[in-house]
Amino acid sequence: MIILDNVSKVYHETVHALRDVSLHVEKGEFCFLLGPSGAGKSTLLKLIFGLEHPSQGSVYVKNRNVEILERSQRQALRRHTGFVFQDFRLIDDWTVYSNAASILEIQGKSHVAIRSRVWRMLKWVGLQHKVYERAGNLSGGERQRLALVRAIIGDPDLLLADEPFGSLDDEMTRYMMNMFFKLHKKGMTIVLASHREDPLLDYVRVLRLERGVLISEKDGT
Ligand SMILES: Nc1ncnc2c1ncn2[C@@H]1O[C@H](COP(=O)(O)OP(=O)(O)OP(=O)(O)O)[C@@H](O)[C@H]1O
Ligand SMILES: [Mg+2]
Repeated sequence: MIILDNVSKVYHETVHALRDVSLHVEKGEFCFLLGPSGAGKSTLLKLIFGLEHPSQGSVYVKNRNVEILERSQRQALRRHTGFVFQDFRLIDDWTVYSNAASILEIQGKSHVAIRSRVWRMLKWVGLQHKVYERAGNLSGGERQRLALVRAIIGDPDLLLADEPFGSLDDEMTRYMMNMFFKLHKKGMTIVLASHREDPLLDYVRVLRLERGVLISEKDGT
């Protein structure tokens, strides 16, 4: 599903965010990318999504080199990939409903289908009572949950989640981690970046990044 082939990323010619990273992620895998702040986790996810370009090496998603995609191919790839941004990227002036619905509107779904899917997803993450609230008024944890809804509402087969627990307490983190497990069970390939260890890591493949170097791996059980 994802191949990084000797990928390095240097910002401003001096900041070595990733150093010679090679990685294969199979379809249906759940990978947990662990590493301290500044290790290069967000950079790695952005390279997979085509938001950043490698300084060296190549990134392939579904057998396609992300760098040389035509516009329509890039759009198709993005449509089937969900991205939970570390900084959420919500539209603050819109309601919770509109933030979630807009993804499906772009896909051309019917009004009725959108309505039922949005309500179901918001209920799933416990935001049904905030449906008509302005997104900008939500708490950090609520914003994080809405960001997850936006990433998965279009039913992607690949989910890239950047620190999806950063603003959540322990109980909500556990709840959300279980949600990721459910998505994984349904067949979604997931790459999740976090600086935080979690007991549930026993069940997933763990990749460790330190100062841009992929230093160890543990297979999922
Ligand atoms: N657009 C950019 N321009 C310049 N430097 C950048 C840019 N993005 C990231 N960096 C630098 O690259 C390095 C890796 O950053 P990155 O955001 O990938 O780390 P991270 O592991 O996601 O950290 P965090 O856990 O704090 O989110 C850092 O030194 C960061 O300052
Ligand atoms: Mg980051």
